[in-house]
Amino acid sequence: MKLLIVGGGGREHALVWKLSKSKKVKKIYAAPGNPGIAQIGTCVNILATDIQGLARFAEEKKIDLTVVGPEVPLALGIVDEFTKRGLKIFGPNKKASRIEADKAFARDFMLRFGIPAPKFQVYETASEALKYTKTINKYPTVVKASGLAGGKGAIIVNTRKEYEKTVDEILVQHRLGEAGKRIVVEEFLTGQEASIFVLTDGITITYLPASQDHKKLHDRNRGPNTGGMGAYAPYPTNRRVKNIIEQVIIQPTILSLKDQGMDYKGVLYAGIILTSLGPKVLEFNCRFGDPEAQAILPIVESDLLESLLAVIDGRLSDVQIKTKNHWSICVVLASGGYPFDYRVGEEIRFKDSLSSKTLVFHAGTKMDDSKLITSSGRVLSVVTTHENLKIAKQKTYEEIKKIHFKGMYYRKDIGNSGMKKMKRKRRR
Ligand code: GLY
Repeated sequence: MKLLIVGGGGREHALVWKLSKSKKVKKIYAAPGNPGIAQIGTCVNILATDIQGLARFAEEKKIDLTVVGPEVPLALGIVDEFTKRGLKIFGPNKKASRIEADKAFARDFMLRFGIPAPKFQVYETASEALKYTKTINKYPTVVKASGLAGGKGAIIVNTRKEYEKTVDEILVQHRLGEAGKRIVVEEFLTGQEASIFVLTDGITITYLPASQDHKKLHDRNRGPNTGGMGAYAPYPTNRRVKNIIEQVIIQPTILSLKDQGMDYKGVLYAGIILTSLGPKVLEFNCRFGDPEAQAILPIVESDLLESLLAVIDGRLSDVQIKTKNHWSICVVLASGGYPFDYRVGEEIRFKDSLSSKTLVFHAGTKMDDSKLITSSGRVLSVVTTHENLKIAKQKTYEEIKKIHFKGMYYRKDIGNSGMKKMKRKRRR
């Protein structure tokens, strides 16, 4: 088969790497791809948002399956356009992608169908939002742009003054453009977070390993929010919590999506927070997470291509996902200064050759003549898997010492929360 992967980050590199292992795959294209992906497949210079350009390319090259990485093309209706042209594509259609692309809609959906979630209010004007005192009236509180804001749409405010400033920036100054036409003001919840990924053809649900993202810039979850500084998998949930997530969150969500005529086919990503009152949904996303995909896919043993095809063809019940009995640690190497101002164009050097067991997924890299240089905030994801979580962590950090670029920054504690959880479990 000939595949086209839409996107050019670490998640897409991990998808290309995993799909290239399928015996059925003859050739992989990626649009726009990156230098890491170029070592496996062919990168084509088409933006992930150029739906018509991508569809023309898929027709021209007789692509057998297109897999969409990021949310924006899904929200723009890439699946509807490809399907209209008779092209096979993995991902939810435009209507179903609203579960991520329209956060006010998603919160309303959760409320209507009794899916546990934080309390919330939706506002379209600053004057309405500033009257906010009754429903949540507690700080910190979370202000979210309802639309897609490239990871910049969720702001935690700690005081009334910060709340007023944030409302003004989004609803009056339109700093987030269209994405900030409406805001969702949500109750701030505390607890461990887990990313749950399921494949669904709209009826059958298949679980991929759960994982934990690390969104804060610094160790021990301090500092500003980022796109994700690392992840580990599987996230160790106990049977009771797992059952609640399955029965109270995932199954009713898939059923209700179907009931609402949303025909959800693809991967559903539930960002869950484990509060003292039980698991609640922080967000639903209509795609694989980044960097969670880089952590999860290396411990999926079965052929991912078979599962993706089964989703599209509505026969997911015929296919099983097999996972390795391994832990996976993924650490993101970022440009110094990220997520604010950071330098790009720094040469990336590999001081020693890396272990053949280590995976390095590219995100913000590009070639400058024959040099590999940094081109964005999150540069590389380094991943190691092992039966023992501590060893997986040690090995990942040993390998990172072999990689260098000026200003390189990374968290040193990816996997620690998993180790703590396992220790507590052993003590019980
Ligand atoms: N890991 C966060 C996201 O993919 O949205």
